[in-house]
Amino acid sequence: MKGLRKYGLTLLIFVLILTTAACSSDTDAKPASESGEKYTFKLAHITPTDHMWHKAAEKFKEELDKRSDGRMQVEIYPASQLGTEADMVQQISSGSVDFGFITAAYMSSRAPAFTAWFAPYAFEDLKETNAARDTEIAKKILGTLDGQGIKGLDYVFAGNRVMLFKDKEVKKPEDMKGLAFRVTPSPPLQDFYKSLGASPESLPLPEVYAAIQTGVIDGMDMDLDATITNKYHEVAKYGAVTNHMVWPAVAMMNKGKYDKMSDADKKIIDEAIKAAADYSAETRASQEEEFKKTLSDAGMKIYEIDQKLFEPYIKQFDEKYGPTDPLIQEFIDTFRK
Ligand code: BEZ
Repeated sequence: MKGLRKYGLTLLIFVLILTTAACSSDTDAKPASESGEKYTFKLAHITPTDHMWHKAAEKFKEELDKRSDGRMQVEIYPASQLGTEADMVQQISSGSVDFGFITAAYMSSRAPAFTAWFAPYAFEDLKETNAARDTEIAKKILGTLDGQGIKGLDYVFAGNRVMLFKDKEVKKPEDMKGLAFRVTPSPPLQDFYKSLGASPESLPLPEVYAAIQTGVIDGMDMDLDATITNKYHEVAKYGAVTNHMVWPAVAMMNKGKYDKMSDADKKIIDEAIKAAADYSAETRASQEEEFKKTLSDAGMKIYEIDQKLFEPYIKQFDEKYGPTDPLIQEFIDTFRK
């Protein structure tokens, strides 16, 4: 009997120890958001601080701070402070930088499915473009970055592409023949302009102003926001608001860091980037008329070119790029009306 009582007491102590251990490991297993994990992230992009992409980065920083109760802070490195986009993507992939807003144009050289976004005239306006972020195909394209150590989070839009000309009013695609035209160094964009008969010049943004001023180029592919922030109206007389292509930044994060976060913290990242991307597209859409007025008040002739005139070139683009990648074909099939 005495032995039995002693055995019962030992069992009770054993059970108590196990319960205590279980409780303490429960605390250790708390998600990072509850255990108060703190982060100071770095985010890099190429645009100046008055461009919408920088404002979207600031919105993202503010949203993260608010949604994480101050646990997630962001240092923003704008205007290519950390190097070219190739440098930045390398840094994001290795983890020395956490986030980037990188042009889909550059990303198309690392992950060809991003070419799909440059299908000419695929969307009516910025509102329709922004809605396309939330489609299966847009997400599948982001997923092609997985193998590069990069988590594709979302797309940030800051206005569609327009054409600026130094001193020739181009009224139809054929007028482009022989023009030295600045086009961002991305094959789908360059091919589109080649098909129009222009000679594409691969100039990065910081070299464009001097090139048009000195007559090295006759015109450029640009967005209205960058036209104003870089003062191209001082050196280009004509602005054709064609809105012929969209211009997404790919919002991305180092994949290893994202994967290690708790589900609750991943949700904070996902929702903060969505809020920033919505803010960017919605604000930019509401500025379209104001930007056109700013430019025409500054002396630039702002005009439109009928989309119908571009139809043969649209078809040429689709026939060339659709068959190169099933995701590009799916994109074209999804969005062409
Ligand atoms: C460009 O290279 O044309 C560009 C890049 C980033 C934002 C706007 C324009």
